[in-house]
This record gives sequence, C-alpha cells and structure tokens, in this order.
Amino acid sequence: MGKSKILIVGGTGYMGKRLVKASLAQGHETYVMQRPETEIGVDIDKVETLISFKKQGAHLVPASFEDHKSLVEAVKLVDNVICAVSGVHIRSHSILLQLKLVEAIKEAGNVKRYIPSEFGMDAAKMKNAMEPGKVAFDDKMVVRKAIEEAGIPFTYVSANCIAAYWLGGLCQFGKILPPRDHVIIHGDGNLKGIYVNEDDIATYAIKTIEDPRTLNKTIYISPPKNILSQREVVQKWEKLIGKELHKITLSKDDFLASKNVLDYGQQVGLSHYHDILYEGFLTSLKIGDEEEASKLYPEVKYTTVDEYLKQYV
Ligand SMILES: NC(=O)c1ccc[n+]([C@@H]2O[C@H](COP(=O)([O-])OP(=O)(O)OC[C@H]3O[C@@H](n4cnc5c(N)ncnc54)[C@H](OP(=O)(O)O)[C@@H]3O)[C@@H](O)[C@H]2O)c1
Repeated sequence: MGKSKILIVGGTGYMGKRLVKASLAQGHETYVMQRPETEIGVDIDKVETLISFKKQGAHLVPASFEDHKSLVEAVKLVDNVICAVSGVHIRSHSILLQLKLVEAIKEAGNVKRYIPSEFGMDAAKMKNAMEPGKVAFDDKMVVRKAIEEAGIPFTYVSANCIAAYWLGGLCQFGKILPPRDHVIIHGDGNLKGIYVNEDDIATYAIKTIEDPRTLNKTIYISPPKNILSQREVVQKWEKLIGKELHKITLSKDDFLASKNVLDYGQQVGLSHYHDILYEGFLTSLKIGDEEEASKLYPEVKYTTVDEYLKQYV
C-alpha cells in the first residue's frame, strides 16, 4: 500500500493530536486544518500544539467551517480526510459541523476515504441508548447518512470505551483517577466493557485508511484482552497497588436517581455509563474477525488494561 496525503480536522483535540502523531508515524504526508478561531483569544496550548505538528513535518492548512470554499480547497490537497471534532457533551460537542465538511468533500470529489469523528460505541447499534445520551449517537448517524448519500467512501471506526475516560476511574461514573480506598461498583459489576488506549485507536484508524478491506465498513477496535467487567478492572488495579478496595454497590435505581441534579452534559455521560454498565450494550456486541482491528492488524501490539493502569500507580 502506498502512502497517501491525509487531512486531519480537529487535529489539536484529545483524539486529533493522536491521529496526527499516528499519521506521521505511519509515513503519511499529514495536513492539519487550522481554524481562524485559533487566532482569536489566547488558547496558547492550541497554538503550541499546531507549531509542534509543523516541527514534526505536518502541513498546517488554514480553513474554516464558516467558509465553504476554504474547506473545499483544503480537501483538494489530500487523498483522505479524518475528522476528530469534539463529541463529549460535558466538554464540547460539534459533531454536526461535519455536515459542512461532508459538503466540501462531495464538491471536491477527490477523497478516497473519509473517517468521521466517531471513535466510540458504534452509533448504528445504539438505537436503544438511554436519553439524553442517545443524542451523541443520533448526531453521528446524521453525519453517516450525509456521507452515504453523498457517495463518499468511508470507514467508521468504533473504538468502544476510550481508556482515559473509563479505566482511569475504574469505570466509576464521574471519576477519571483510580481510588485507593473504596470504589463504587455499578450494579453487580459483571457486565463487560471494551477499553482501548487512545494512541492505539489512532494507530488502528490510520491503518484502515488505505486498506481495501475496510472500505465502506465499520471497523471495531475490540482487543480481546481488554474486554472486561468493572470487577475485573478493579481486581487488576488492586493487584497493582497491592491492596483490596472497599466495594460499595450502586443499584440502577439509585444511579438513575442521581441524574436529576446533573447538568445536561453530565446527564449525557451518565446515560452512556448506564448503557454499558447496567444494560451491557457491549457485553452483547458480536464482532466478526474481518471487522475487528486487532485481528486485521496483528502487527500492532495493543496496550492491555494492566499496562494502561500501571501509569496511575
Ligand atoms: N467512547 C468514548 O469513550 C469517547 C471518549 C471521548 C471522545 N470520544 C469521541 O472522540 C471524538 C473526538 O472527541 P475529542 O474528545 O477528541 O474532542 P475534543 O478534544 O473535545 O475536541 C476536538 C477538536 O474539535 C474541534 N472543536 C471543538 N469545538 C469546536 C467548535 N465549537 N467548532 C469547531 N471545532 C471545534 C477542535 O479542533 P481544532 O481547534 O483543532 O480545529 C478540538 O480540538 C468524538 O467523536 C467523541 O465522541 C469517545
């Protein structure tokens, strides 16, 4: 497979910067969209990130979601486009902005593959997701519909649970660092989640881009060793710190009762935890080998949950 030109949109974000790194590491000519909003205000970290991309060999491409022509011109520079605009309500949510990008890709007519901002649960399988969290999947489905209606070649990358959000807090809702004393167990704690290191997600996503096997398909990142229940995750942490945590079980009713005092963004997050830890949406996920990233790319040594948790000790 030859090396292509890849445009990354949302490149300074949590997933975006990893996609830029992975694209460069895999030898692609890498372009990163630079929005004019960067010039306003004092988001000095964003500027520093963009400059660091340039130093590593990426090209910065000025373009704006508010300027269709600039988007078309940016897209025309490359073969493939990956978008990683925000989609975590508690932080920022701009998934539907991609409709403008899809319009530009359609008009440019040269893009061989588009990977939209997904990198979570497969939106197509979340029709029964709890409200208001379902909005996250509904918006991603709106984008998918636009991509498919425009006839744009695509790959949807479903990464299940991004590790820092889920493993960091041992799958406790609202926590991103592991406890050393007690832990809330959601329900019986036995339903399985699928936890994936964010750098591995980026590596796999870039791998799919020139792969004919992944054309117009959904690819799942579901590393076999990382399919674990909350209790199994907690056990791994206990082994690492050499201490058993006090377990407090939280019933579904009590968990849901806490929803009303939360703001909208937090309610969206709570819904996702409900779907995974109380309803077992991922426990029932069936994936064929031909659509699972670690099977498609056995040369990638993915990060196991033990390895990931070690950084918090
Ligand atoms: N399943 C999971 O566990 C999980 C967890 C986290 C994220 N995700 C998914 O991963 C994807 C990326 O999320 P992320 O957390 O990496 O995003 P993020 O860091 O919050 O934001 C990514 C980028 O989006 C762009 N952006 C943000 N607000 C914008 C606005 N108002 N207008 C235009 N652009 C804006 C910015 O890009 P530039 O400034 O560089 O242009 C920003 O750096 C989303 O689809 C999300 O749903 C899944």
